[in-house]
Amino acid sequence: MVNISLVQFTPVWNDVPGNLQQIASLLKGVQTDIIVLPELCTTGYSFITREEAINAAEDLSDESIAFFKQLAKEYQAMVIAGFVEKSADKIYNAALIALPNGEVKSYRKTHLFFREKECFNEGDSGFFVVEHPLKDCKVGIMICNDWRYPEAARSLALLGADVIACPSNLVTDVWRIGLPARALENKVFVAVTNRCGTEIRQLEDGSTQTLTFTGGSVLYNFTGEPIEQADKTEERVITLQIDPTLTRDKHFTVFNDLLNDRRPEYYLS
Ligand code: ACM
Repeated sequence: MVNISLVQFTPVWNDVPGNLQQIASLLKGVQTDIIVLPELCTTGYSFITREEAINAAEDLSDESIAFFKQLAKEYQAMVIAGFVEKSADKIYNAALIALPNGEVKSYRKTHLFFREKECFNEGDSGFFVVEHPLKDCKVGIMICNDWRYPEAARSLALLGADVIACPSNLVTDVWRIGLPARALENKVFVAVTNRCGTEIRQLEDGSTQTLTFTGGSVLYNFTGEPIEQADKTEERVITLQIDPTLTRDKHFTVFNDLLNDRRPEYYLS
């Protein structure tokens, strides 16, 4: 059995130390094996220019990464957290995966949303699955808008994910229709950690951009049903116990197997 924790909170724009402190204080006393934080949880979401993203970017040896590595060690947990990653001259909307043994990996968002296209490079990590070093559990990672591309979740299921962790900064509610389908059609748990709050930024032309994030972080069962869901505004950690091995038999009738019955020769790429 595995405990998984979804940490919903309101990151403050451009306040990395304050945001890390909020995360630490929300997690106090939690016993868990997997921690899923929102997209861009160290900085806030609303980058307006590439220059801002460059200024906020960290490489894998910087402050937030050290914080998440320490968190993984302290909780003996896999930590998945959205941050701005710098690698050579590229800047990514990324999710750090920090393991209790000190290892780190980075998933770089494949499908950029809205103004992210002006601030970040398109992700080039591809989809991958990480085995929990202390538990029998394989976690696949995608970020927010990746949910609109069923190929993302399907790739993770084909790679053997039991759980898909989806750090998010969702600003609509349509995902509440789409994401449970990703769980059902792949027979995987899906952990969507969204943020809450509103960010107002001034654009270069003098107008303002207001984004309100829709909270409602939720763990979907492999049936597509929500196991537990936060409300739209609360700062809260949801911790639930799951059995990841229940996702591995993909039969849904004695004749049908979700993945083996696929007919890729008829699908377009
Ligand atoms: C999103 O990808 N942040 C909607």
